[in-house]
Amino acid sequence: MSHAAILVLGSSNTDLVVQAARLPAPGETVVGGVFFRAAGGKGANQAVAAARAGAGSVSLIAAIGEDDFGREALASLRAEGVDCDLVKRVSGEPSGVALIMVDRNGQNCISVASGANLHLTPADIEAIDDARIRQAAVMLACLEAPSPTVVRGLQRAKQLGLITILNPAPADPEIASSDVLRHVDIITPNESEAALLTGQRVEGIADAHAAGQRLRDLGCRHAIITLGAQGCLLVSDQVVHVEALRVQPVDTTAAGDAFNGALALALAEGKDLPTAIRWASVAAGLSVTRRGAQPSLPRRAEIDTQDHPLAIRPLTAVQ
Ligand code: RIB
Repeated sequence: MSHAAILVLGSSNTDLVVQAARLPAPGETVVGGVFFRAAGGKGANQAVAAARAGAGSVSLIAAIGEDDFGREALASLRAEGVDCDLVKRVSGEPSGVALIMVDRNGQNCISVASGANLHLTPADIEAIDDARIRQAAVMLACLEAPSPTVVRGLQRAKQLGLITILNPAPADPEIASSDVLRHVDIITPNESEAALLTGQRVEGIADAHAAGQRLRDLGCRHAIITLGAQGCLLVSDQVVHVEALRVQPVDTTAAGDAFNGALALALAEGKDLPTAIRWASVAAGLSVTRRGAQPSLPRRAEIDTQDHPLAIRPLTAVQ
């Protein structure tokens, strides 16, 4: 375990999952699946990903209901070593729930009932001491918490000298038209999120390059566009492609969360961006070989073992 400290601002859900041969079309019923329940929510997943990857301290800022799902989520986060002092308990609202369907190729579709997650407010961010925020090296935020709350969190973290990472999932195009991206050091959309944020088509490396440049024009210092099996593209003063781990996918749920949690930790430990991205890509690759969100997140030893050099190439070498 390192001494690196991370603040994660986001959500907590309970995932109710059916894994079946294929995803149903609208109006269709597909039988023959298996059901399981798992701890999830992008914020909670990212916090657990960083904790398992070896962070010295991970604190989650989120909101959870006072119901059985909420109590179980909290107990499970604490068992993972995630500090939950900044998790707000909301009475009279159900904890977040995600209904997830996964097909035989590991592809999924997800519908979220956010419940208590929507009750995390900018005032909750104001109530956190400066000193508490300054203890962390990195703030990692996702958009399953309300946007105004995420914006305030990123502003405060940036003002207090943290590295700020925004995982714009699920994508909110309004984020791109606000000035919040000026407070974001690193943005990490996947292809569809990058397309929604930029209004441009993003299919493959060349499009990702253009979208990354657009996101930098909007104010972020660095853009990392994740491309699934095609790896990811860092668009910064340098433009670098990092290949993905070659795996047989079982369930891609939380691959992005594994990536972001590991990336936050690697940067908090002082790794340079391309090296941090490679390490995070290994974490993401390992997570898709197992089913479920939090159950699939790898531990540090596993990531280190698999961190055989995934190629890091300047974009010119890829085109
Ligand atoms: O990123 C995966 C997560 O998205 C799931 O755990 C689900 O809860 C939804 O928030």
